[in-house]
Amino acid sequence: MNVLVTGGAGFIGSHTVVALHEAGFNPIIIDDFSNSQRSVLDGLEQIIGKRITCYEENCCDPKALAAIFDTEKIGGVIHFAAHKAVGESMEQPLKYYRNNLDSILSLLETMVPAGVKNLIFSSSCTVYGNPEQLPVTENTPVQAAMSVYGNTKRIGEEIFRDLVSTGHPMKIISLRYFNPIGAHPSALIGELPSGVPNNLVPFVTQTAAGIRKELTVYGTDYDTSDGSCIRDYIHVMDLADAHVAAIRRLLDLPMPIHYDVLNVGTGNGNSVLEIIKTFEKVSGQPLPYVLGKRRPGDIPSIYADVTKSTEKLNWKATRSLEESLADAWRWQQRIL
Ligand code: WQD
Repeated sequence: MNVLVTGGAGFIGSHTVVALHEAGFNPIIIDDFSNSQRSVLDGLEQIIGKRITCYEENCCDPKALAAIFDTEKIGGVIHFAAHKAVGESMEQPLKYYRNNLDSILSLLETMVPAGVKNLIFSSSCTVYGNPEQLPVTENTPVQAAMSVYGNTKRIGEEIFRDLVSTGHPMKIISLRYFNPIGAHPSALIGELPSGVPNNLVPFVTQTAAGIRKELTVYGTDYDTSDGSCIRDYIHVMDLADAHVAAIRRLLDLPMPIHYDVLNVGTGNGNSVLEIIKTFEKVSGQPLPYVLGKRRPGDIPSIYADVTKSTEKLNWKATRSLEESLADAWRWQQRIL
């Protein structure tokens, strides 16, 4: 079955393309390469052993989408394509609302008439804001997110929920990601942050590679075990496997209409200082870092209750934090 992967040349998208292929699906990519590199297609070819069909188009373009759905027999869609830099979203809110919501609406306005019913949406734990209780379950109240980026995910979920609740015959799952890290063990694909990395692990690996002088730990005065922030870091291949499991669930569902949200994390929380210590262990080298001030918008702690996704998807993250950081480091050393 053909699965259209929007943003399939991106970090999570490319790893999901590998997992889809290995599960016997035929992934087809649509990507405008605004935040990904064409070289990813070469890495995918080396891993998979064949060239993945890729349409260089923007998901906000209804004509481009319609042409793809006319050409390819699409059985399901996984929608990754979105702008995702939290900081940039606060500087350019309209760019984020236009792109992230237009792509959802254009996709749905193409899928519904084409009779393509299965859709997986890339959502984020950021919709929980600063949760009062941990770990967060799917029933933890969704709050106005801490960023415009997070709000585009929250609004996206509401669009899908309303579409289904008004009776449109669609089967949709929103996967709420926690913190994806690592890389494919072949080191042929991985995270390619543009410019100075916002996220912790790529900044760690670039510091270890000598690209960055030192890591700044953003705050050690939080009410956590060691004062630094706690997150649920999940190997990107575990996250990719969760997408395959979610597509399979939609295909197995007997009813023609369905909407659900699922947490996709490990269920464990690790602090920034623990990430540093673990990285030093797996890399065998000290990491230069300094203790700095808090980063505006950060929340002290969040990690997932994965009971529901384990049960509904028959899936669980299997890769350890050590493996994730080792795979991230191997990838960084290859792209030095
Ligand atoms: C993790 C922790 C930082 C960099 C964001 C988005 C989320 C998702 C993942 C898209 C925090 C600390 C970081 C550094 C540091 N993105 N840190 N020094 O903020 O949890 O989540 O990325 O879906 O939606 O919000 O991830 O990796 O940026 O930060 O101390 O140089 O590492 O303060 O506590 P975050 P992150």
